[in-house]
Amino acid sequence: MKKITAIILAAGKSTRMKYSITKVLRRVSGRAILEHVIESCLGNGINDIVIVAGNNYSELNKFVREKYKNIIKPRFVLQKQQMGTAHAVKVVLNSKARLKDNILILNGDVPVSRKTIRNLINEFFKQKNDGTIAVSEIPNPEGYGRIIQDFKGNIIKIVEEKDANKKEKQIKLINGGIYIFTKKSLRKYINKIKLNPKKKEYYFTDIVEIMANDGKKIGAKLTPFKELTGVNNRLQLMEVAEIKNRDMIIKLSRRGVTIRDFNTIFIDDTVKVGRETVIRYYTNLRRNTKIGQRCLIGPGSIIENTIVGNDVEIIKSIIREAKIQDKTRVGPYSHLRAGTKIGRNCRIGNFVEIKNSKIGNNTKVAHMTYLGDAVIGDNVNIGAGTITCNYDGTQKHKTIIGNNVFIGSGVKFIAPVEIGNNAVIAAGSVITEDVPPFALAIARARQENKLNWAKKMKRRKQK
Ligand code: UD1
Ligand code: MG
Repeated sequence: MKKITAIILAAGKSTRMKYSITKVLRRVSGRAILEHVIESCLGNGINDIVIVAGNNYSELNKFVREKYKNIIKPRFVLQKQQMGTAHAVKVVLNSKARLKDNILILNGDVPVSRKTIRNLINEFFKQKNDGTIAVSEIPNPEGYGRIIQDFKGNIIKIVEEKDANKKEKQIKLINGGIYIFTKKSLRKYINKIKLNPKKKEYYFTDIVEIMANDGKKIGAKLTPFKELTGVNNRLQLMEVAEIKNRDMIIKLSRRGVTIRDFNTIFIDDTVKVGRETVIRYYTNLRRNTKIGQRCLIGPGSIIENTIVGNDVEIIKSIIREAKIQDKTRVGPYSHLRAGTKIGRNCRIGNFVEIKNSKIGNNTKVAHMTYLGDAVIGDNVNIGAGTITCNYDGTQKHKTIIGNNVFIGSGVKFIAPVEIGNNAVIAAGSVITEDVPPFALAIARARQENKLNWAKKMKRRKQK
């Protein structure tokens, strides 16, 4: 969209939230509210973005620059004092920022969808309006600006909750805080907005009455409320998160995923899940997780930024930044940390922790094991209680284990150490040196049995 500049209003003090961090950075469905807004603009080809920030300037600037490095360079404008939404828009209009002919104004606290923006813009151009506003009809409009229309459906006024009289308070049509105006009309009318005497702020919404009185045409685009829920307090944050989650569950269900429960399963809207996969109770799929087909996920699993193949089973486990290939079974109670790559048809069992390690196909790590900085081949059997001692207090070291290796229970690998293909490691060994292929390594003290020792002890005690 070449002709549109988006202005995101994000300078508010978030007083109603009672949070130490700025509200537009609170997460909904795995992403900051501000990310939802920015990405919905980008999704409509709107790359020219100006963000109005206040006390949160450096916090927002840092966040956005890191997140969208190499993608866009949003411009920031400082609103030193938060004197209301009209003042925020005015600060941008008066700044050096070059703006396109049409201005999309977005309240930064509404995690608006791409579709809502698209519909709003289309309506604006189709009707050749001077401004178009996303509106919604809701049973409980408390807290929102009420929309007053003329008989043609054009908007002639917005009344804020605090200024609304009894009759106006009955109006169920609300302002969603997402608008598009021509730059020309914004420049012409924004300075005419007067300070609201009650709130001592300049309300952007007052521009509507001023423009309508001057014969300008402001249209309404009716939008489902779930697309326009603003986040002003913690309860609304929870409500918005719930709405997005429900939508995601419905979307996946329609695509052939079985999701057992609306209330205990949380799936970020960036997650992908294949057909015939079943997601079971108390499971949270986060960020850029991708799950294949016919998997069984949960109950009780948290999976983040992880790629899972087909026919995989994951029960009661925590997995982050990992990759798991087809037909592997994980859990219960496995913890797979960043950089874990597991091959096909493996078995990762209970109380197993794996970090920054690659595991080949058909390998079994079934019980109570820690593998860190390890490379493990195919068809390896790792006995219960095996530990890679990868950290010497200063540095991390690698453990390399070849194909077809058998590792007995309770083995400790003092890294760096390398085990050749087909080697066998005796249970209870402490391996400090490399083991050649096909060798048996036994590294433990020999046992000595002192015969009748206990009997003698007993007799001594009796005396
Ligand atoms: C606003 C609208 C209301 C609408 C609602 C929709 C006004 C006066 N009212 O109310 O009609 O129904 O949104 O969600 O606009 N901000 C600044 N600078 C300021 C003040 C606010 O940048 O000086 C930013 C805030 O960070 C926020 C956005 O503007 O992201 C909206 O401000 P907020 O105080 O949340 O307005 P609402 O009371 O929700
Ligand atoms: Mg708000």
